Amino acid sequence: MKILGIRGSPRRGGNSDQLLEWFLSEATSDMVDILTPSQLHLQFCRGCRYCENTGFCVIRDDMDEVIRKLLEADRIVVSTPVFFYGLPASFKALVDRVQPLWARRYIFGETMPEKIGFLLAVGATRGEQLFKGVVLTIRYFFDALGCVYKGGLFFRGFDVSGSIKECVVCQEEVKASGRYFLRGEKR
Ligand SMILES: Cc1cc2nc3c(=O)[nH]c(=O)nc-3n(C[C@H](O)[C@H](O)[C@H](O)COP(=O)(O)O)c2cc1C
Repeated sequence: MKILGIRGSPRRGGNSDQLLEWFLSEATSDMVDILTPSQLHLQFCRGCRYCENTGFCVIRDDMDEVIRKLLEADRIVVSTPVFFYGLPASFKALVDRVQPLWARRYIFGETMPEKIGFLLAVGATRGEQLFKGVVLTIRYFFDALGCVYKGGLFFRGFDVSGSIKECVVCQEEVKASGRYFLRGEKR
């Protein structure tokens, strides 16, 4: 089984990195591949619609490898902070670039290999709507890949880098969900 983890934050060793580490703590290293959008060379989607005629992007950069990994994964877990009620820009750039897969699925009628996805998200404040934008974007990101959204865990009130490490309940909850996810079940 191939598991792809996506680190949405541009800050290394922060709260969302910690969530992902807990979530995948029972997976063996040969099963897991990690993508870090902020460390990749990804141009922004140009909106040129080349992909809607061909199923491929006109741009050649690290996204070629990302697309291959997204298609090969059996499970995808995204871990991200909230930036202005959405995704950090480097991660959103990756999301926009899956439009060729959306085109293959919805214009050319291609069937994607089956996979399931999970979301971990963290923000500093506590508003009821805090994760609304992130959830919608990730649900549609997953959908473009033919990836079934199995739900998410959401953490409010964490701002300082790594402050979530102090939260024992968070750790237990994330590790338990990770175990279920690796078995393909929803907790
Ligand atoms: C540019 C920027 C925008 C942010 N926007 C929000 C926001 O809209 N709402 C919120 O609750 N926290 C916001 N935060 C705080 C982060 O979500 C929070 O610090 C989170 O724990 C960072 O996770 P990380 O350590 O994985 O990077 C923002 C932080 C930055 C740097």
